[in-house]
Amino acid sequence: MKKEKFSGGLGALLVLAGSAVGLGNIWRFPYMVAENGGGAFILIYILCMLLVSVPVLLSEIALGRHKGNMKFHGLVNLLFVLIPTITLSYYSVIGGWTLRYMVFGNSDFGSFVSSTGHPLACLAIFLGATALIVLLGVRSGLEKFSKIMMPALFLIMCALAVYSCCMGHGSSEGLRFLFRPDFSKVGPETFVKALGQAFFSLSIGMGIMVTFGSYIGKDENLLATAAKTSVADLVFALISACVVIPALFAFGMFFQDPLTGEVMANPEADVVGAGLIFKTLPAVFSQMPMGWLVSVFFFLAVTLAALSSSISLFEVPVAWLTEKFGISRSWACLAVFLFCYAVGALCSLSFGVLGGISFKGMNIFDMLDWTTANVLMPLAGLICVLYAAWGMKKTELRSELSNSGKLRGVDRLFPVLDLLIRYIAPAGVLAVALSGLIG
Ligand code: PFF
Repeated sequence: MKKEKFSGGLGALLVLAGSAVGLGNIWRFPYMVAENGGGAFILIYILCMLLVSVPVLLSEIALGRHKGNMKFHGLVNLLFVLIPTITLSYYSVIGGWTLRYMVFGNSDFGSFVSSTGHPLACLAIFLGATALIVLLGVRSGLEKFSKIMMPALFLIMCALAVYSCCMGHGSSEGLRFLFRPDFSKVGPETFVKALGQAFFSLSIGMGIMVTFGSYIGKDENLLATAAKTSVADLVFALISACVVIPALFAFGMFFQDPLTGEVMANPEADVVGAGLIFKTLPAVFSQMPMGWLVSVFFFLAVTLAALSSSISLFEVPVAWLTEKFGISRSWACLAVFLFCYAVGALCSLSFGVLGGISFKGMNIFDMLDWTTANVLMPLAGLICVLYAAWGMKKTELRSELSNSGKLRGVDRLFPVLDLLIRYIAPAGVLAVALSGLIG
């Protein structure tokens, strides 16, 4: 079977950026910046990207293009199929919720998620849409949709950011707070947090980018692709922060303590994760002028961001099934849909009728989330980076990155890239993995 490839550099960039830009940018990054010293955290985040995450992304796509998809050994291969598949199952549950909020607006979050039929229907629609896009193939599905979704997402988020920052009631203070560097909040753990976020946000350390690397044409400049993807992800994260934090400021969800002068989150409000998106922000929108419209566009943006990430997760098991077992793309999509729907349904019901099943206070959703985020991903991240960094000979890596010497600039830069890829990036991943496993 001839392997499908991206049509060119732009297609590859938009699919990679689509995978990277997701819920992580919207619901975690803004809070991390606010909590960890504003501009100081942003600087550290950029440093971590330059030293660790861009080299890891680069080595993953280089490995994928050089050796083809899934060239790990037996069981390890399975791990790299299993992680995205499980992640997709619970990511789609949240994708379904965003669809619901986009169409019906604010609702009682607690009673919605604990009900049975509605969340399951939303999950089916979100996962079904993901499956349909992937079914259409790499070019006519993933690439075409990313070319529509990513510019739309960018425009909506920019418009929302302008609205949020110009809203008055202290929103501009929120903006200043966001970018003002406060190095007193920075410690060694800030670096680990920034690195962990950079990993999830760039979709690296899961082997996903290895699959996408195998779809990139031989003439594309991999360093440029990795750098542009990272910049796109950072820009989206910053724009999301400009949407979220000023709006939270304007409605008192963050405030300045009159005694200490310190800015802090309102202890009664959720300012991160699902609580931020589905409880706090809808409450804020409902008090804004034209809030219903803001809400529709915001949830449209979140849905697009989630969908552009879920298609990349879905592609991995589909590629594995078609390449390893030779089955058709349609059957592979159906199989992945059914598997993820079954696991996703268990996650969804764990907020309601299956809420009784718990371990150490975690329901099924939390258990899957916790296990993938804290155990499987760090482990896979480490294996992946070691494979990517050391699985290719130095000469092979050099020739892959410089397109057999044709890209002179990259070739000259190679000693620096080699140092980053083989030594500095693995050390960074080890730090994240250890802190994930211990934490
Ligand atoms: N990068 C996505 C986000 O920031 O939400 C999450 C993600 C998508 C992680 C796809 C991993 C992945 F393979």
